[in-house]
Amino acid sequence: MRLYINIDHVATVRQARLTDEPDPVRAAVLAELGGADGITIHHRQDARHISVRDVELLGRTVRTGINLEISSNERMVDLAVSTLPMQVTLVPEKREEVTTEGGLNLTSASVRGSLAAGLGRLADAGIRTSLFIDPDAVSVDETKALGADAVELHTGEYANAVGDREKATELARLAEAAARADAAGLAVHAGHGLTYENVVPVAALPLIEELNIGHSVVSRSVFVGIERAVREMKEIVEGAPGRVRRPGEWAPPIGF
Ligand code: PXP
Repeated sequence: MRLYINIDHVATVRQARLTDEPDPVRAAVLAELGGADGITIHHRQDARHISVRDVELLGRTVRTGINLEISSNERMVDLAVSTLPMQVTLVPEKREEVTTEGGLNLTSASVRGSLAAGLGRLADAGIRTSLFIDPDAVSVDETKALGADAVELHTGEYANAVGDREKATELARLAEAAARADAAGLAVHAGHGLTYENVVPVAALPLIEELNIGHSVVSRSVFVGIERAVREMKEIVEGAPGRVRRPGEWAPPIGF
């Protein structure tokens, strides 16, 4: 299991004052020292947190690997092709949203067309590609058809689920989508809304090989420092029971 730390919200604090601190480049160094397997950054079209400068400088300083989240907008893909991150995750983007609200709508022909163009350019540049999708069969199958290397399953519904029954339902959806993606030869990532409290059942899903976690870790880092906050998350993720489960066989872990 690889733990990628999303440092967007270090830049959010900087942008609150339009100054030069805290610098996400420093945060990335410390996150790597804390055991992050990679650094995730989301460059939005309005550059509300991560800027072009950050993408370029992080590209030259991060030693692990960068997972750049962008929309399939041509200008965003241009930036990826010129900075060559290790991986690009294509995500939907609405200007008015506070954070990414759901996975890509792969039932839309225009969305698929834009993704196909972006994925082609990224693959030609030698960049590994992933699509951020809701955990359903259609989205997994369309991701495969579009030729991406990986899916990132949106864990937001799981994170927002209330009560054991709802959580179990959402976890089963994630397990089923992970199994379908894995069977199709796609690498399986997951993220959004994961916290120190809710990450274990997701980390315990055996087919998920990469987690992207941001807000919870950056929030904790305000109090304990980012290196420690990352180390603590890494310990929790690595300590998750590695049980082999098939779709429909999910059982809540003790104390869940
Ligand atoms: N994965 C994707 C595709 C995202 O857009 C985000 C948020 O930028 C994350 C993971 C991380 O989510 P969170 O900040 O809730 O951990």
